[in-house]
Amino acid sequence: MKRLEGKVAWVTGAASGIGLASAERFAAEGAVVIGSDIAESDGWKPVEATAPGSSFHFADVRDADAQEELVGQIIREHGRLDILVTAAGVAGGGQVHTLDIEEWDRVQDINLKGTMLSCRAALKPMVQARSGSIVTIASVEGLEGCEGGSTYNASKGGVVLLTKNIANDYGPANIRANAICPGFIDTPMFQSVISHLGPIADSIRNQHKLKRWGRPSEIAGAAFFLASDDSSFVTGTALAVDGGYTAGHSHGLTAI
Ligand SMILES: NC(=O)c1ccc[n+]([C@@H]2O[C@H](COP(=O)([O-])OP(=O)(O)OC[C@H]3O[C@@H](n4cnc5c(N)ncnc54)[C@H](O)[C@@H]3O)[C@@H](O)[C@H]2O)c1
Repeated sequence: MKRLEGKVAWVTGAASGIGLASAERFAAEGAVVIGSDIAESDGWKPVEATAPGSSFHFADVRDADAQEELVGQIIREHGRLDILVTAAGVAGGGQVHTLDIEEWDRVQDINLKGTMLSCRAALKPMVQARSGSIVTIASVEGLEGCEGGSTYNASKGGVVLLTKNIANDYGPANIRANAICPGFIDTPMFQSVISHLGPIADSIRNQHKLKRWGRPSEIAGAAFFLASDDSSFVTGTALAVDGGYTAGHSHGLTAI
């Protein structure tokens, strides 16, 4: 039996990268998947073919009304919302003394406030049903600092603690909330960042102890675990899925 049969999942940022890979995985596991994004997606036809009833919608995570409307539509059409994955996000950063204030606000609004607004909309029917699993996509950069991280790291650190607070508040209603903290994953966002870094990219790749970049499907696998009943006693965690990026510092003392 498929492991998410009978479940309805909402994935934000579903047009691309980690969100699309999560939608594909959930559809393959039998869920009806509702995707939302501000961009169009070529990837949705296979999802809709795999999981009938699945659909893609334009909704900006910064728009509270659009998010609430979409959740209302999900409940009217499917009668339930079991899973939320918040994958919508943008890259950003720079050193604080030269950081443009509008850039700070843009990244916070999408990554942190947008995540909160998605959770806010999804929690209403989940509280009524007294059941649900929320998976936020934070980052290793929400667990530790890095050069030039500023607004991105602050937003992702906020996502980690927002997720833990949701786990605190809604555990008694049988709603779980967990954050995934990916290392560097080969997606369009990653390409836009890494292509400007030249040889520094090799240094970043080598901080992953597996000595490679991650794949979107590897984050989708963790999202599936946290969304499914396999993780029924897991809530409030920030799961690093990072090829060992946060396992420690390597200085070349050992060789294998
Ligand atoms: N790729 C990585 O290395 C990496 C590492 C750690 C965390 N993440 C996080 O994973 C998430 C997904 O990133 P990705 O790498 O798949 O990037 P991506 O650019 O491939 O996908 C992000 C999606 O979010 C959408 N989006 C952006 N702003 C939006 C808005 N206001 N409303 C709705 N949708 C919006 C984009 O249109 C895009 O489709 C992001 O939150 C990102 O910060 C990525």
